[in-house]
Amino acid sequence: MRKIVIMPGDGIGKVVLPESLRVLEAVGFEAEYVHADIGWEQWMEHGNPLPEKTIELLKEHKLGLFGAITSKPKKEASDELKPELRDQGFTYYSPIVGLRQRFNLDVCIRPCRSFPGNPLNFIRKSAGGGSEEPEVDAVIFRQNTEGLYSGLEWTNPPEAVRQAMGTHPKWKPFANTDPADVALSVRVFTRAAVRRILEAAFAYAKQHGYDSVTVCEKPNVLRETSGMMEAVAKEVHEAYPDVRLRSTNIDAQMMWLTKNPEDYGVLVAGNLFGDIISDAFAGLVGGLGFACSGNIGDEVAVFEPTHGSAPKYETLDPPIVNPIAMVLSAAMLLDHIGEADKAEAVRNAVAGVVREGQVRTYDMLRMPGGPDVIAKGAATTTQMTDAIIAHLD
Ligand code: IPM
Ligand code: MG
Repeated sequence: MRKIVIMPGDGIGKVVLPESLRVLEAVGFEAEYVHADIGWEQWMEHGNPLPEKTIELLKEHKLGLFGAITSKPKKEASDELKPELRDQGFTYYSPIVGLRQRFNLDVCIRPCRSFPGNPLNFIRKSAGGGSEEPEVDAVIFRQNTEGLYSGLEWTNPPEAVRQAMGTHPKWKPFANTDPADVALSVRVFTRAAVRRILEAAFAYAKQHGYDSVTVCEKPNVLRETSGMMEAVAKEVHEAYPDVRLRSTNIDAQMMWLTKNPEDYGVLVAGNLFGDIISDAFAGLVGGLGFACSGNIGDEVAVFEPTHGSAPKYETLDPPIVNPIAMVLSAAMLLDHIGEADKAEAVRNAVAGVVREGQVRTYDMLRMPGGPDVIAKGAATTTQMTDAIIAHLD
């Protein structure tokens, strides 16, 4: 039987991941699930949030479902290490970013589609004075391993780095600053990775009938990195004459997405811009409770909701968080392994629940989260999953 590595991680990851497995079972998908540790507890206990054992399991089974992890800035993370491990040179790196890089899961797909009937859908004023709800159907392709996530960073860069920088005329204004007061984060793009994300985006657009691919970067300022993305996009486009190639700047895109989100289909961006655009589009279709994603490499693929771990909700009983993002991520896993019918059945079931509007978690009712939301009429996590399962046919 197929084995899938499950990494619930931290906080609400532990709540929503098991819910998605209930849906997979109900849709008739059979697999064996192998638990793997990842996240904050591993960091505090061992100084490593991404254990070698987890890496081994993914190497072996190739498919993963991931819940959520807590990530904190460097100093806070070090302070939470168990006392014996403090001041020993352990540095916290986000384990999901680590996984993406370790397995070269360089193609990140983040569909942001509105479900009719979702009270959280974006609404705008129409020219005639009323309001209208544009249908959002955007799929963000985020380069997932390089760019500003390369991890090439320094505060107080070493002499050799400063010297190398000094070979560039633009270093001049910084040359006399005390190095201790200089921080550098390097944005690295490589042609092969840029080509892969673009090829994945165009192939997806063609396969799923999107009429455009929009490259969303900032080539007027980031001439080299964004410039490379634009140049390679033109080359890749040649094999897809039926798909339009468009280009926007990240800042302008942030403005347009609330003016005319229905005009965008597939979008492609580097790592950080892709991170930003995917949250921004998610906001138009219900927020992070609806945002699913796939991190896809040549051999390994890991599927995850893009929300954080919201630790304060982990222990609420009954649980209140919306499992839909996790369930939709599990559906993406089904797509990835050729179970398109089952994936579609899961999405249709979610659509049915949302359309009917009888069962809504607190976020869908625009309530602030807390233990009182159930008494105020919000569905529990379990009730939402049950409703999705009841709509499978
Ligand atoms: C995401 C998240 C991560 C990222 C964080 C948790 C490191 O925001 O998956 O979008 O920045 O990639
Ligand atoms: Mg993000």
